[in-house]
Amino acid sequence: MSEQRKIRKAVFPVAGLGTRFLPATKAVPKEMLTVVDKPVIQYVVDEAAEAGIEHFVFVTGRGKGVIEDYFDIQYELEQMLRERNKNAELTLLSHILPKAGTASFTRQQVPLGLGHAVWCARDIVGNEPFAVLLPDMIMSSEKSCLAGMVDLYGQTGGNVLAVEECDPDQAHKYGIVGKGAPVGDGFKITEMVEKPAKGTAPSNFFINGRYILQPEIFKILETQERGAGNEIQLTDGMLALAKSQEFAAYHFKGETYDCGAKDGFILANLAFALQRPDIRPAIEGPLKKLVSGLL
Ligand code: UTP
Repeated sequence: MSEQRKIRKAVFPVAGLGTRFLPATKAVPKEMLTVVDKPVIQYVVDEAAEAGIEHFVFVTGRGKGVIEDYFDIQYELEQMLRERNKNAELTLLSHILPKAGTASFTRQQVPLGLGHAVWCARDIVGNEPFAVLLPDMIMSSEKSCLAGMVDLYGQTGGNVLAVEECDPDQAHKYGIVGKGAPVGDGFKITEMVEKPAKGTAPSNFFINGRYILQPEIFKILETQERGAGNEIQLTDGMLALAKSQEFAAYHFKGETYDCGAKDGFILANLAFALQRPDIRPAIEGPLKKLVSGLL
């Protein structure tokens, strides 16, 4: 197989309304809610950086300006930290800052759906394959999910989606893929169905919020009708693209937390806090007590 074009750019659609997390999201974007001590968006950007992404494209919307500020220099704060010799904190802040010119922000003026948000990034992405990471899905695994997808993409080219297995009874809640011949750490996708009617799903492998897509998707999204929820759906665009291009699935084996939902967000906080040697000893005991009180 010829060498694939490198995945250099990643799109982070952060323009959604976050209605599942009201009232918190009335004034704070859900991507800025903190898991332990970092905003959710930081986990996803770190995952992309680990996978070799060089340019970070944020599709923002009204009230999301704080995300742009978060990835910028905070002069007064840094000056104050310097004066107080808070060097560890300064180093922490310097790690967050993207290299000049490697972060772009564009606006989706009206939240018309995920497909539309991705389309808003078309000029910045240009004519090359790119990644999309849903910033409310954060993952815990040894090798980052996107890094695994990039490896698989090196073997398959085309489009790659990350998938996980769900309880077959729950398949009607997700975008489900059909399982074809194995390839690398995954398989070829034979079909895609968004929220299949109960008992009709072709498998229990659901799309978990990470995509590698070819730029031809933009042409499709440009003229796409609204679909489910009266929104321009990315899945509908991928279904149209699948008529002319190959799709492969990367079988992700780690844990995924949906931080756009209250239960997923709470679980993420617990799971990531338990991974931290500076926090675990303080919460392990009380947590066990809390849980045993429930049993
Ligand atoms: P979600 O449906 O999970 O996000 O979209 P939402 O609409 O913000 O959340 P709820 O359902 O109202 O609670 C998945 C991702 O797509 C982005 C969201 O920000 C989220 O990261 N999105 C969705 C956009 O950027 N624009 C849209 O028009 C819709």
